[in-house]
Amino acid sequence: MDLSVAIGAKKLLNPVGVASGTFGYGSEYENLIDLSELGAIYTKTVTLEPRAGNESPRIVETPSGILNSIGLANVGIDAFLSKKVPILARYSCAIISNIAGSTVDDYKVCLEKLEESEILWGYEVNISCPNVSHGGLAFGTDPVTVERLTSGLRKLTKKPLIIKLTPNVTDICSIAKAAESGGADAVSCINTLIGMVIDTRTKKPVLGNRTGGLSGPAIRPVGVAIVYRVKRSITIPVIGLGGIMTADDAIQYLLAGASAVQIGTGTFVDPGIPKQVLRGIKDYGEGEGFEKIGDFHGYIE
Ligand SMILES: Cc1cc2nc3c(=O)[nH]c(=O)nc-3n(C[C@H](O)[C@H](O)[C@H](O)COP(=O)(O)O)c2cc1C
Repeated sequence: MDLSVAIGAKKLLNPVGVASGTFGYGSEYENLIDLSELGAIYTKTVTLEPRAGNESPRIVETPSGILNSIGLANVGIDAFLSKKVPILARYSCAIISNIAGSTVDDYKVCLEKLEESEILWGYEVNISCPNVSHGGLAFGTDPVTVERLTSGLRKLTKKPLIIKLTPNVTDICSIAKAAESGGADAVSCINTLIGMVIDTRTKKPVLGNRTGGLSGPAIRPVGVAIVYRVKRSITIPVIGLGGIMTADDAIQYLLAGASAVQIGTGTFVDPGIPKQVLRGIKDYGEGEGFEKIGDFHGYIE
């Protein structure tokens, strides 16, 4: 079975990647798994300036998931390019740099700097961040802003450009369409769902930031339904994520219309999950007589 997946002008060797923010800059896992077996590493969101992130505690367990408020802690674009990217050059998998900013110009400057690196395969754009020039609402909640941001970035690169959608909106399909009209090569969904845990003893939220993002198996049915709806509203590929722990979970995303998947919280439990998922997708596909990843599509009306 041909496991490759076309995104824009390039091809991922296989559909299984590891999700941004849950896999550091890749090298943190190099003694645990063979990184070259992955289809892609989506690196931790990088911003123009280094960020210390939110006040701790930053993670709390929830039923079948975790709530995090890391707050985009990262080394900043210059250290990312000089210290992190060269290490990733050792691996044959696609290195997809995830970027964020507080204004459209921040994103553009970030991408321009990353274009200097030949090691990076493509970009994933995190639009779940507050837009400071637009009242602090997340970029990803407004289709007009998403189209403007995407088309601004599109002009700066020929590499694959993936827009990562936030589920914290009323109509995610309108945001996906805006990304497609702006020239995105794919969308990935979903980022985390906003949540809160309160300690009834102290009567205070557990997380230092009060609210956080919910991830893990608890959100998988939400992610699968979103992929199903988004796939039917655009023609570019959809990359599915949210709560994948097993090959069966990933196959649900593929049947819903995803062309590739990412594993996030799952790797905290077992870094071997991406490899098991890839083997399971291949076994299932071959058992069904599929020749390519696209053959997973079309079963669900
Ligand atoms: C601790 C943690 C940190 C995260 N950091 C980022 C990040 O920096 N950028 C981003 O786009 N998504 C980030 N995410 C979201 C994940 O990439 C993913 O969209 C989400 O967790 C759903 O997938 P999962 O249930 O497999 O974890 C983070 C998630 C977790 C749990």
